[in-house]
Formats: sequence, structure tokens, C-alpha cells
Amino acid sequence: MSQTVRIALLGAGTVGAAVARRLCDPRRADLYAARVGRPLELVGVAVRDTTRSRDGIDPALLTADASGLVERADVVVEVMGGLDPAPALLEQAMRCGAQVVTANKQLLAQQGPRLEALAAENGVGLDYEAAVMAAIPVVAVVRDSLAGDLVTSISGIVNGSTNYVLDLVARKGVAFDDAVRQAGELGYLEADPTEDLEGLDAAAKIVLLARAAWGADVSIDDVQRTGITGLTDDDFETAAANGKIIKLVASAWRSGPPENPRVEMGVRPVALPQDDPLAQAREGANVVIIEAESAGRLRLHGAGAGGEETASAVLGDIVRAARRVVRSA
Ligand code: HSE
Repeated sequence: MSQTVRIALLGAGTVGAAVARRLCDPRRADLYAARVGRPLELVGVAVRDTTRSRDGIDPALLTADASGLVERADVVVEVMGGLDPAPALLEQAMRCGAQVVTANKQLLAQQGPRLEALAAENGVGLDYEAAVMAAIPVVAVVRDSLAGDLVTSISGIVNGSTNYVLDLVARKGVAFDDAVRQAGELGYLEADPTEDLEGLDAAAKIVLLARAAWGADVSIDDVQRTGITGLTDDDFETAAANGKIIKLVASAWRSGPPENPRVEMGVRPVALPQDDPLAQAREGANVVIIEAESAGRLRLHGAGAGGEETASAVLGDIVRAARRVVRSA
């Protein structure tokens, strides 16, 4: 048995580099060891180009052999994104008996049920808190903390970049196109901005939350989706004249009996009263409201994107996964 819990990191972009720096920070090492019951050891970081230096990461940890790295790990952490080669590496990790952590929301939205089944088959965990709203711990709340309750609905502002754009237009009077440009310049938009602007990113997140809350067999095609690109000056003016503010709202709600729930999901721009809790999300913030039969109405509000914030969620999942490794040793 290894004296440490061996962590393999796949990807060293903004989030991956932030995760690696924390895992290598000696001041955090004791903290993680105390929380897990054994020290965490970053055994390697898989990257495409090993010659490029990465601030705060020991070059000796870099490898281009992701598959070889996976074989040496107790916990495999995928922060590379995309649909190739991430799923093959995660499958390999699970078949090797490693716990898996991923921040890859598009992969989960498309292949989540298959990966969950594979995790169950191999007796390993699949954790993905970072895939939805970064550091806001919403997956754990709907999947674990409320597992003894009956969640009835989830609604929120789950996409920071569209919220930034809509906030600039509504509160600062910036023209829609300029607001989109500014969001892009600040790095808020996905590489393909239509992911944000057409509501695909929000749709992927609400699908993950619906699955986490209800175990629902749903996909992104089940989301009734309207993005923000069709909004006109008239829409913004009418909303303002009525004291309202337009937000891109993602929601999921359950109908039918708890043992056989029917789940409906939507993403669409909504003109909300200024004092609506969802209207309180300013600039790039996210907010989500969860209604459950016994718990009532819960609200989580915070930063739903950003390298450090997303790394916080990934580290939380790593600690959770590492505890499983220690328990099963
Ligand atoms: N483009 C996403 C957003 C990034 O704006 O929320 C975080 O998922």
C-alpha cells in the first residue's frame, strides 16, 4: 500500500495549474493530510507540450504520456476539457480502480450516464463539483446533502458571462454588442462564444444538476432553450420601463411521483423584478435557488467561474476521492 494518495492531473491550463500549485504547496500539505488521513502526492501532470514551463509546477512532474500516468494513480483528475482524449483516459482510470474527478461539463452532459455506470461497475467514485458553478457547492447540495429530502425545483443564473453581458446592458446602458465584446476581452466567454450566448453552457449545467438531484435520465436535448442573442433594444427598454431586469435563467423542476419523477428543464431570458433573488446576481456572479419539501428554499450565491474558484471545487473533490481511497485500503 502506498504511503501517500497518488494524484494524477490531466491538463495544466488555468484550472489545472491552480490545482497543481495547491497540491505542491507545502503549507497546504499538512492540511490535506489531516483532512484525508494520508498525505496527497501529485505524481504527474499530463500536458501536450512538456517543454513549456508552467509557473509553480516542477518540470519533472510534466509528462506527455497521460495513459502511463493514469496507471500510477489512486485519483485521476481531468481538467483538460474537450471530448478527446478525456473520456478514454477517464475510462482507463476507472478500469484501473482509480477514483475520478472531472471538471468537464460538456463531457458529462453528453456522456455522464455512461461514465456513472462505468464508475459503479468498477466500484469507484466520479466527482464533478467543479463542472457546475465552480466553487459554489451546488452538486454536493442537491446530490448528497438533500438526498434525504425531495428537491422540487432548481433555478438559477448559472452562466457568468451572459450575466455579465446582461448586467452591463441593463445597469450601465452599454450596447449589447459592446457588452459581448467586453465580456470576451475579459476572458469570460467560452472559446466558442455561442456556448454561452445561445445557452448551451447553461443547459449543460442544468442537465448535470437535474441528474444529481433526481438521478434523472435527461440530456441536453431535453432542455427547452433560448439564448440571449435574439434579445432586442426593445426588450431591454420594456423591461427597464417595468422596473425589471433581464436575466438568463436556467431551471429544472420535478413533477410526478418521487419514485418515478418527470423532469422538465429550460434555459431562457426572463424579465425579473429588481428584488427577485435571481436578479441579485451582478456582473459575472452566479446564484441558484433550490426548493426542497422539508428544507424549503435554499440560496447559493457566489463566483461561478474563474481559475482559483474552479480549483477550489476540484480540490474539494480530490479530498473527497482521497478519503475513499484511504477508507478502502
Ligand atoms: N462560460 C462559463 C460561464 C464558464 O460564463 O459561466 C464557467 O462554466
